[in-house]
Amino acid sequence: MQIAIPAERLAGEHRVAATPETVKKLVALGHLVALEQGAGSAAALPDDTYRAAGATVVAERSDLLAQADIVLTVRPLDESSVAELKQGALLIGQLAPYQNDTFPALAAKQISAFALELLPRTTRAQSMDVLSSQNNIAGYRAVLLATQYYPRFMPMLMTAAGTVKPARVLILGVGVAGLQAIATAKRLGAVVEAFDVRPSTKEQVESLGAKFVEVPMTDEEKAANDGVYAKEMSEDYQRRQAELVAKHAKAADIIITTALIPGKAAPLLLATEVVMAMKPGTVIIDLAAEAGGNCALTQPGEVVRLENGVTVVGQTNLPGLLAADASNLYAKNLLTFLMLMLNQQGVQIDLEDELLTATLVTHEGQVRFPPARAGV
Ligand code: NAI
Repeated sequence: MQIAIPAERLAGEHRVAATPETVKKLVALGHLVALEQGAGSAAALPDDTYRAAGATVVAERSDLLAQADIVLTVRPLDESSVAELKQGALLIGQLAPYQNDTFPALAAKQISAFALELLPRTTRAQSMDVLSSQNNIAGYRAVLLATQYYPRFMPMLMTAAGTVKPARVLILGVGVAGLQAIATAKRLGAVVEAFDVRPSTKEQVESLGAKFVEVPMTDEEKAANDGVYAKEMSEDYQRRQAELVAKHAKAADIIITTALIPGKAAPLLLATEVVMAMKPGTVIIDLAAEAGGNCALTQPGEVVRLENGVTVVGQTNLPGLLAADASNLYAKNLLTFLMLMLNQQGVQIDLEDELLTATLVTHEGQVRFPPARAGV
């Protein structure tokens, strides 16, 4: 098989879908790997490191795509790149299935495309879970980003010149990113509180030494949210949640929001009036910026300094800020996933394997996502 690694085209996307380590493994299996020139350089992986691992480096992107049986990416391919793919090729990456409008074009070229965000959250899928490996990085980086804008220390300090109080950090949404943000903020010496709509997160928050902010729930509400993903909550719950969050937000120095609902706009957790009532110097890092934001005043990709002294950071793609480690983990996720289908003879897509069927968005000329609309 000819396997291609194109350079990412989205501005600020510094990650790459394969590393010399994963290339070496593919080459050892007898496959040919080609890298678009410079694809790894922003992740501290120069072309020579790929050549040393057995890849060829190709200057012309269209040649690379036209010859590939398998294309590995971080982000979706743009329309012109899709047009250059070889008929019947395999495409694997974070294909943003809820926003991607290239699926009909991929299907028309008989591409079998896999969107890794759709992997089920099962034990078997853990080693391939790109959301997990990348959100873990986002949670860590969010805390460091907050320290950049926060005008005070994080830890408590006792100095001859006086005592410095520790920062109070509030984390809203305690999935993979939120848990890592708690752990990182604790390591820096902050006092940490966290909140999530899934009651099962309480124990996880407390095991990291943080305090869980609890909105009382009815048994029905608890039952609706005992899965791995959050559901949209009733208006009544949202009102109770907003009141409690507003109270804790006023006391916080740093707020990191990570709340997401797959396929939906991010829930609004910090309304304008709540932000306007915060203390000067408070920093909000909105990790949901790309999905519309958890804060009403977030501008995706921008840092907004409000008149009341609050800073709202809508930086997107935090894993891209740690491109070397993010690529390393992502490439391993991808290789493990690819090995579900790839052997020395070539590719075999087992449509009985739930990890493949859940992620397969186009196949044999059909768009299969979303499953309900596509009739799968
Ligand atoms: P996510 O990125 O989809 O969402 C982040 C967090 O926001 C979630 O914890 C969610 O409950 C929370 N949230 C949603 N609406 C909210 C609201 N209105 N207010 C407050 N919080 C809200 O979550 P992520 O990180 O993808 O994790 C989702 C689940 O998947 C977790 O239970 C995690 O343990 C599980 N998981 C399982 C894996 C596996 O077994 N393969 C791998 C990684 C995660």
